Amino acid sequence: MQIAIDGPSSAGKSTVAKKVAQKLGFIYCDTGAMYRAATVLAKENGIDYGDEEQILAKLSQSEISFKPSEKGQLVFLNDEDVTLAIRTPEITNNVSQVSALPKIREELVRQQRKIAGDHDIVMDGRDIGTTVLPNAEVKVFLIASASERARRRYDENIQKGIMTPLAKLQEEIEIRDYKDSHREISPLTKATDASEIDSTNLSIQQVVDKIVELANNAR
Ligand code: C5P
Repeated sequence: MQIAIDGPSSAGKSTVAKKVAQKLGFIYCDTGAMYRAATVLAKENGIDYGDEEQILAKLSQSEISFKPSEKGQLVFLNDEDVTLAIRTPEITNNVSQVSALPKIREELVRQQRKIAGDHDIVMDGRDIGTTVLPNAEVKVFLIASASERARRRYDENIQKGIMTPLAKLQEEIEIRDYKDSHREISPLTKATDASEIDSTNLSIQQVVDKIVELANNAR
């Protein structure tokens, strides 16, 4: 079974997707982490974030992988643990530029389909239900208001010792929403057959329960 969870930034997709995967015994693939790793690759090699050919050349010689650990899922770019590096403000604010490059999307979609292979999988991102896994048995479009998403990101940041004002976070979220929904290739859109869940007033567990119920009904 394939479960596709799409939606805008900070709607809680990865938190929920991980829990759903755990509950059902499926593997979990965070495709946003892959676009972020491609952005780290550009930064580390001094490549401009808009230079499609050079990023592609490096990306096609690189492997992005996920490894489970006691601290949660780690993200590797070749042998380098980039779990923390992919979450810095510089990467967060530039990933939409890299993810809008058609050849980078093509390469990462190819890698994502390969990861999905024959496994039962929960995959989250922006274009999973529309492009990467169009035949997924369960498709969820997870949304929440921009102010609620900013508040959640603010709380997460405080725990990590990052002090960005709430209003700035909301502005960054809205800019990323705009870029992700207006790019030419695979923009963020709800698949026609996706179930929309608004998590603004729901707990994580409530959202997880709804998705597990959708999965059980689809079996
Ligand atoms: O989900 P996350 O916020 O980590 O994703 C980071 C960025 O990667 C998004 O803002 C978007 O630009 C890009 N992305 C994408 N397609 C996906 C997943 C993420 O374009 N399937």
